[in-house]
Amino acid sequence: MTTSATATASTASTASTAALTAGTSDRTAQDRIDDPSSHRVLTGDRPTGPLHLGHYFGTLQNRVRLQDQGVEMFVLVADYQVITDRDIADRLAEHTENLVLDYLAAGLDPERATIFAHSAVPALNQLLLPFLSLVSVAELSRNPTVKDEIAHSSQAAVNGLMFTYPVHQAADILFCKADLVPVGQDQLPHLEVARTIARRFNERYPHADGSAVFPRPRALLSDAPMLLGTDGGKMSKSRGNAVALGADEDATARTIRGAKTDADRRISYDPVGRPEVSGLVLLAALCQDRDPEAIAEEIGDGGAAALKRTVIDSVNEYFRPLRARRAELAADRGHLRQVLREGAERANAIADATLAEVREVMGAI
Ligand code: TRP
Repeated sequence: MTTSATATASTASTASTAALTAGTSDRTAQDRIDDPSSHRVLTGDRPTGPLHLGHYFGTLQNRVRLQDQGVEMFVLVADYQVITDRDIADRLAEHTENLVLDYLAAGLDPERATIFAHSAVPALNQLLLPFLSLVSVAELSRNPTVKDEIAHSSQAAVNGLMFTYPVHQAADILFCKADLVPVGQDQLPHLEVARTIARRFNERYPHADGSAVFPRPRALLSDAPMLLGTDGGKMSKSRGNAVALGADEDATARTIRGAKTDADRRISYDPVGRPEVSGLVLLAALCQDRDPEAIAEEIGDGGAAALKRTVIDSVNEYFRPLRARRAELAADRGHLRQVLREGAERANAIADATLAEVREVMGAI
């Protein structure tokens, strides 16, 4: 799961539509795109635990927005990636179903978005073999995100999948020829790997008419401020500093009441000077779809207690419909599995066609 929880300030949602015309850049920061039907978007998460508010404002909301603009969406549950930094994928089926539950509650629509687990798509995984031949061991060991994950891993030894999963992620993206990948900052090195592999594959194995097999995918970065955890650190479920999307109102209140603040009673929005207070102000602002400065102004000299009351009410109010939908969906596990089955069916058809094309240009027939 993307660990960095960036949040799209709602005030930035009217960002320029011109970003996509640049063409040569490997990234673009905006949330509305021109000619939605000409793009295919793929993104994904590791099924390691419930999604939280950072995920929601950082990526989920944006995915739903893209879907609603008519972009073709693929949302992948990266179950094989769970075993990069741990020996066993704990409660994998449960985490996978709950991830789908969070997706659906947030507004992803399985009629329009293809939601699937990559372990259920054999041809996608087979792309790993030719792709691995296109990168050097030195390149794999230089990847900064992989290095960071190794530093934070609880495992005694680093396994081979840890080094190769960015290549596997290239297969995740390229199997369906996605051209846009909404990700957090920490995933940019992986996007670069996917772009490198696409370019090298196309150079080495062109179609007979000279045309390329793969597009060069670009990252879709939200130019959003970081939504901090309640301890002022990176928001992360494992650090116990995050409010889960599916948390009830009491649990939400408890977590927010425990948030770190400072002694200055005058509330202000100053992300650099007062990161903890500003994180709370931002959260209320995102939920109320208002400027953080206006929220801070309104609370004025009310101090941390008033700020927290505002945040608790804003979060619980904003997420009430989503949570009600989530509770309804949670009662039908069969439906969640059905969504994954149908998603896998669509993904398999596409992966089979791509693999056939790959084998053909390689002369493997
Ligand atoms: N590595 C991503 C993460 O940890 C999850 C992921 C797997 C992904 N495959 C992907 C993201 C393909 C985007 C595209 O969050």
